Amino acid sequence: MGADELAAVFNSGAAEFSWLTPQVWGPAGQALVFQLRLRPGDTVLDVCCGAGASALPAAAAVGPGGRVHAVDLADDLLEEGRLLASDRALTNIDFVRADATEWEPPSTVPEAGYDALASSYGVFFLPHMDESVNRLVSLVRPGGKVGVTSWRRGALEDYAGAYFDAVARHVPGFDAGPRDDAEDPLKKLDTPDGLSSWLTGFGTTSVEINEMSNWLPATPELAWGMVLGSVLRGPLIGLEAAAVESIRLEFLALLTERDIETLDLGTLVATAVVERRPVPATLGP
Ligand SMILES: C[S@@+](CC[C@H](N)C(=O)[O-])C[C@H]1O[C@@H](n2cnc3c(N)ncnc32)[C@H](O)[C@@H]1O
Repeated sequence: MGADELAAVFNSGAAEFSWLTPQVWGPAGQALVFQLRLRPGDTVLDVCCGAGASALPAAAAVGPGGRVHAVDLADDLLEEGRLLASDRALTNIDFVRADATEWEPPSTVPEAGYDALASSYGVFFLPHMDESVNRLVSLVRPGGKVGVTSWRRGALEDYAGAYFDAVARHVPGFDAGPRDDAEDPLKKLDTPDGLSSWLTGFGTTSVEINEMSNWLPATPELAWGMVLGSVLRGPLIGLEAAAVESIRLEFLALLTERDIETLDLGTLVATAVVERRPVPATLGP
């Protein structure tokens, strides 16, 4: 999916995305910021920030002397983030519409680089993920931190399988994404070992990985809300309302048929210290 398509998917699902935050995006964002051990005065880049699940806690952590640049493609999520920041009177965070792969730090960022780079459930959306992340890590000063969250192996698997089966019955030629693990960026990040060696490939050390367990009852509201408020919404764009309703009903029926009563949102929270700035032209692992 290209940048415009991704922005369209997340913009059209902005209401459901925000509804999911307390149970889904929020816990991981908080965990990531805690594990990054940000300090007052730090300057942080948060890419694929959405409505600020990690960027807002980061702004609180770095305090009034620090700054957070929160970057995303989806204007409607950024606007939600600005409203939340304003509600909390946080003035040290900028929500900016930009493609993370093209982000250049403004001149207010210290020449040595950001103190930390954060991305919660985000890096796997970046085209050429390794090159893109390598470039982003090069924006962090030596001794600074990098932190990402991603789905743990098996998370959402049965759930997404049921959804894709329901979609395939209504959308001729539907393709659920890479079948080959080597082509699926998520597969590089979904085990502690894989994620650890992926991170060290960018010149980082002191990797810390924790699994955040998050099992949520698969109520019809949450199961369908997760579709509408995430990238799973993509295949529904452009379909007639009646087709979307048929998919919803079949999907919920499949969850029942397959005894999927719980959503496994297991997440890996990974942080590391940047040892040296990677040469931007060098490929990641
Ligand atoms: C699953 S959401 C996670 C948002 C947020 N980090 C959170 O945890 O709530 C992924 C986000 O990545 C953004 N995104 C995808 N590709 C991007 C890119 N190339 N540049 C900036 N943002 C991007 C999407 O717009 C979306 O908001």
